[in-house]
Amino acid sequence: MIVAGVMSGTSADGVNVALVQISEDPNPLSGPRSMGGQARPHRFKLLGHAEYSHSKKVRTAILAAMNASQASVPDLARLNFLLGELYSDALLTTQSQCKLKIDLVGCHGQTLYHQGEPQLFLGRKVAGTWQTGEAAIIAARVGAPVISDFRPADIAAGGHGAPLVPLLDYLLFRDARLGRIVQNIGGIANLTMIPAGASPDKLVAFDTGPGNMVIDAVTEKLFGQPFDRGGRIAASGEVKDEVIHEILRQKFFRRKPPKTAGREEFGREFVDEFLKSCKGCRNQDVVATATALTARSIAAAVQQYSERSLSNKRQPLFHEMILSGGGAKNATLVSMLGGQLARLGLRLRFSDEFGLPSAAKEAVAFAVLAYQTWHRRPSNVPSATGAKRSTVLGKISYP
Ligand SMILES: Nc1ncnc2c1ncn2[C@@H]1O[C@H](COP(=O)(O)OP(=O)(O)O)[C@@H](O)[C@H]1O
Ligand SMILES: [Mg+2]
Repeated sequence: MIVAGVMSGTSADGVNVALVQISEDPNPLSGPRSMGGQARPHRFKLLGHAEYSHSKKVRTAILAAMNASQASVPDLARLNFLLGELYSDALLTTQSQCKLKIDLVGCHGQTLYHQGEPQLFLGRKVAGTWQTGEAAIIAARVGAPVISDFRPADIAAGGHGAPLVPLLDYLLFRDARLGRIVQNIGGIANLTMIPAGASPDKLVAFDTGPGNMVIDAVTEKLFGQPFDRGGRIAASGEVKDEVIHEILRQKFFRRKPPKTAGREEFGREFVDEFLKSCKGCRNQDVVATATALTARSIAAAVQQYSERSLSNKRQPLFHEMILSGGGAKNATLVSMLGGQLARLGLRLRFSDEFGLPSAAKEAVAFAVLAYQTWHRRPSNVPSATGAKRSTVLGKISYP
């Protein structure tokens, strides 16, 4: 069947759509036999993908909706339906450009709030997550069933509701001989560690910290541009090591996985503090330092985990990092990350080399998750989210 995945991440830069042909693998021994004990192997082929940028107006409205002190309930309700329309437009355009008919949609939606860890609220401990973008609108416009709202079921099972991409990472990138770290750099940076020959219950996945979020915010503030195209501004600046050193001592970076991050951790307040600690620096140095923060926090996460694992084994656990997400287009970030990884003995590769364009990866993941749900199969990876059990994710809207 042809499944469309729709992703719009915390960067609020736009919508990524991927059309994926998914079928069962006729040879059951060639795939993972037990993903959560029930999933069956399948094969997929990317038939097309596209990226649609949000207008400045829409991006501003989304960012305002993520800001509790600015958001109004009528605007939130309307934004939900507006995003449903924008996702539908993106799907219909991609469908007609590819001359295909979509059978099923998996839509992540726009996260407005995510708190994976239960906290005391009105006398009771609760976690919470909220993805908006009305699926009933998409089902009606596209004329196909839509799976949406993937995260709450994992939280209900005791997990953090994130990350959900490890299933795809495992299906695509596991290797019998090479230990791989699959790293996505969106607004937030997250990784999946897949030791060589590992079964799904051996995966470790978590958010490493900021991806492009801090870089985007300081570039917007200091240069009036939504992001540092190609990493050119950062390339002309000088990294302030002492600022990074100080930040990496913060609680988030020291916490053990499972852990997730969002604008709650690395949004406006973090950026204000970051700018304060860069006081006296040139503007380009601030962007360079934000860029280095992403590269070094990723390397620090990898190092912490490998050191813990290396105490048991002599062989290096990981050989390669496979990069995806918008951050892969930031040449300065990529070069800083490459330098850090070389020090750890890891080779940096790109998901594009594996036939998966870096911008399409997360959209493909939500197509695969939708396919799982449509077949009533679980797709969270408990070792990644911290859930007590594997579970079927999402809700279905019929056209
Ligand atoms: N050409 C580019 N040069 C530098 N950075 C880029 C480029 N293209 C995209 N990006 C960065 O990637 C971000 C979007 O990445 P994406 O993977 O879509 O994140 P998210 O999932 O959070 O939406 C942009 O906000 C920007 O920071
Ligand atoms: Mg995006």
